[in-house]
Amino acid sequence: MPDKVVLAYSGGLDTSVAIGWIAEQTGAEVIALAVDVGQGGEDLDTIRARALACGAADAEVVDARDEFAAGYCMPALLANALYMDSYPLVSALSRPLIAGHLARVARERGATLVAHGCTGKGNDQVRFEAGLAALAPDVRVIAPVRDSGMTRDKAIAFAAEKGLPINVTARSPYSIDQNLWGRSCETGHLEDIWEAPHDDVYGYTDDPANGKPADDIVLGFAGGLPVSIDGRQLSPLQLITELNALAGAHGIGRIDMVEDRLIGIKSREIYEAPAAIVLITAHAELEGVCMERDLARFKRTCGQRWTELVYDGLWFSPLKQALDAFMRQASQHVTGEVRVRLQGGRAVVTGRRSPASLYDYELATYDTGDMFNQDLAKGFVELWGMPSKIASARDRKLASAAGVPDPA
Ligand code: ARG
Repeated sequence: MPDKVVLAYSGGLDTSVAIGWIAEQTGAEVIALAVDVGQGGEDLDTIRARALACGAADAEVVDARDEFAAGYCMPALLANALYMDSYPLVSALSRPLIAGHLARVARERGATLVAHGCTGKGNDQVRFEAGLAALAPDVRVIAPVRDSGMTRDKAIAFAAEKGLPINVTARSPYSIDQNLWGRSCETGHLEDIWEAPHDDVYGYTDDPANGKPADDIVLGFAGGLPVSIDGRQLSPLQLITELNALAGAHGIGRIDMVEDRLIGIKSREIYEAPAAIVLITAHAELEGVCMERDLARFKRTCGQRWTELVYDGLWFSPLKQALDAFMRQASQHVTGEVRVRLQGGRAVVTGRRSPASLYDYELATYDTGDMFNQDLAKGFVELWGMPSKIASARDRKLASAAGVPDPA
């Protein structure tokens, strides 16, 4: 019986060619696996038919949109995950999910090989393979684009030679990866980091300067997770889908950055993440209202670490899992509503309310009714500054003993 290889299949040129390429190189039967993480575009049946037409022995399609929204986007929201303070981890979130399905199909089909179409220059190879190492340590990974010279030119020639049903001339100049949480776009003119992005790089957002009148929405959260828009209870998938359309129409969530890849190079990326940016903005605001100060400060540090672990492909690491537990515990009182104004490329919080609020009007007010005892502040401030006061007195004493003039 021939060996089997499960290929992460997108329906695009590279992975379509990879079907025949891998079959020729390994003699194995190729099972194409297409996973819907909300990337839109072609429907899964079309993609499945193309895989078979390109020579796959079988093709499996999975609608993983709910799983992705609830199990991957929501934990990223709990962590307010923005890599380098900007990138909401769009692609980094989908890779571990796809790795999970690759491992499952390999197990179900008795395949000893798994394949992906990543190059050797990106993060995604790391995320797939580190994920697979954790979930299916016995399967061997093959990467034809990276490891066996399947360059773009060779892929196009291979497609022509075999008469594969793929339109190579319709190919975009950009490398694009899309899912529910956002869209990433790289290469082409974007490789000149001084050049402004052309209009055709955008797919999820309208021009922020389109002059569209503002939309005000109220987002409801329970335990740190979003549960409603304007009082309508929605699933994570429904909520993200709706916000992408609503905020995308205002041009919200466009990000143009040079980022540090795990493999050591810097790269220019254009991201669009309308729903993610609105949700993170509102969620972080509600945390500010409901979370005790030290917990909030510590959680920011943990969120950054969580983000770097996930960016770096370590979704299944013990530290990432432990941080997830921390995030859930820390978020237990993050319940309430945030009003957000969407307009001109920005999501601006204009109000917040919560049954678990720590904001105390009587302590905060400068009007009559102020309950804050200002007498307590005087002694507190004196003690607070005391260690620095003692240390700087010491510094002055040592400096004068050494004959150094006092800088003050
Ligand atoms: N640089 C981003 C990341 O590492 C996006 C990668 C997207 N992949 C792509 N083929 N365009 O998460």
